[in-house]
Amino acid sequence: MKVSVIGAGNVGATCADVLAQKDIIKEIVLLDIKDGVAEGKALDIWETAPINYYSSKTIGVTNDYGATADSDVVVITSGRPRSPGMSRDDLISTNAAIVKSVTENVIKHSPEAIIVVVANPLDVMTYTAYLTAGIDSSRVFGMAGILDTARYRAFLADALNVSPKDIQAVLMGGHGDTMVPLPRYTTVSGIPVTELIDKESLDAIVERTKKGGGEIVNLLGTSAWYAPGAAAAQMVETIIKDEQRIFPVCSWLTGEYGLNNIYLGVPVKLGKNGIEEIIELELNEEEMKLLRASAAHVKEVLQVLDDMKIV
Ligand code: NAI
Ligand code: 2OP
Repeated sequence: MKVSVIGAGNVGATCADVLAQKDIIKEIVLLDIKDGVAEGKALDIWETAPINYYSSKTIGVTNDYGATADSDVVVITSGRPRSPGMSRDDLISTNAAIVKSVTENVIKHSPEAIIVVVANPLDVMTYTAYLTAGIDSSRVFGMAGILDTARYRAFLADALNVSPKDIQAVLMGGHGDTMVPLPRYTTVSGIPVTELIDKESLDAIVERTKKGGGEIVNLLGTSAWYAPGAAAAQMVETIIKDEQRIFPVCSWLTGEYGLNNIYLGVPVKLGKNGIEEIIELELNEEEMKLLRASAAHVKEVLQVLDDMKIV
């Protein structure tokens, strides 16, 4: 199996490092546009192999898509991150141009690849890759939900003083402040979370989750990378191992949840073919209202891209 990670910045290099440590892929190619960056980080990662005890080989290249040929999965992290005060939407034009040219190169050299988009604004960059790649939407999707639910689960673990391992959750909608965490579908070892925490504390955690990306940007002056890199690596692992795991994933909807022609976070089953199934939960009226509001916001952003006529 071969996986390429485009963009050897904070998220891309972390994703490659986490993937290498899983020891499930023969070759990981890290590609960046900046001379020497991918080569240096890949070499550094490879030099951890004797310590971390794995065989996956990471190699780095500068803009050489030939080296990515015949990848099974390609993760696209190339793009500018958010800086303080900047919304994800401000990034559209810069990152759409990058994601478009990267996707063209990726698909030329790996026509059978599954593409996992990470670059922001996530929903619209996934749409950009989909329009550019011209392949089935089951093979082009975005990483956001695993990260957002991980934040939600980490905050709940703190509040309840339990292991994050036991917290299961699903979250829907766009990757941004309109995301829709679903307390009704959150459990701690099977126990509904609503039986373990009061409404006010849970509401505060939901609000913190929605702004979880911004919280890190405000602390670091750039966006997060450890959890995003690990989240993208988890999606790749599920695909490579054909695990059929269920995760919230930014997916192309054609009628599911009454929504059409939009990339939005929904629970899906992931396996060797990419999205094997979109799962339709029975949402109540309030949840559906929040999902529709999030979809309306994402639609506006997709329209911004359409109007720019970049793709
Ligand atoms: P970074 O600035 O550390 O890395 C980006 C890398 O992309 C740089 O090394 C840059 O040289 C490279 N690059 C730029 N244009 C390129 C091109 N045409 N071809 C190949 N490489 C190119 O940024 P970081 O922190 O790694 O974030 C990457 C992207 O991921 C950003 O857009 C960020 O907003 C997004 N992100 C998304 C998350 C999500 O949940 N979906 C979470 C965290 C970050
Ligand atoms: C995050 O959620 C900024 O999308 C990035 O950390």
